[in-house]
Amino acid sequence: MNKVFLMGYMGSGKSSLGKRLSRKLGFDFIDLDKLIEERSNMSIEQIFKEKGEQEFRLLEQQALHSCFELQNVVIALGGGTPCFFDNIKLIQQNGVGVYLKMSASALASRLKNAKSIRPLIAGMNEIEVLEFIQQQLGEREKYYLRAQLIVNGLSIKMEELNKSLLEFLDQ
Ligand code: S3P
Repeated sequence: MNKVFLMGYMGSGKSSLGKRLSRKLGFDFIDLDKLIEERSNMSIEQIFKEKGEQEFRLLEQQALHSCFELQNVVIALGGGTPCFFDNIKLIQQNGVGVYLKMSASALASRLKNAKSIRPLIAGMNEIEVLEFIQQQLGEREKYYLRAQLIVNGLSIKMEELNKSLLEFLDQ
């Protein structure tokens, strides 16, 4: 295996960990949301607004499939990527899945301060965001927990993660 897929809820820090990890491993870094935006020439927000979530999930699936062709790469998935179609099965088959686990309340407070627009929670107040995350995380966690590695998103020990990953990755 030579691909690492970072998964976890919105705001769990997949992209920033992905950048650090790719440097450490000497791999390329891909942000799946950015790939979708580049390919469709639209922002994620625009895709949700103009085409709807269903169409977004299809674009996301296509972008994911195209990552399976790549070598030596860390991919930060979108929060929903593992939870649709047979994506989680293909992720497991094609690389090492890492779940950045975080509680709903930690995620809610991180998302409150986030600069990027997340269509799924746009326009909600703090309490609504927390309730939404609690409910959605409850539905999604069964997919995230199928990752080969699970790390505490609030206290990631890079050395340990690196060591665990090396057991899965081709040398
Ligand atoms: C989504 C998460 C977002 C993005 C889209 C939908 C989700 O990615 O793919 O807004 O369903 O959780 P991040 O997890 O990078 O914010």
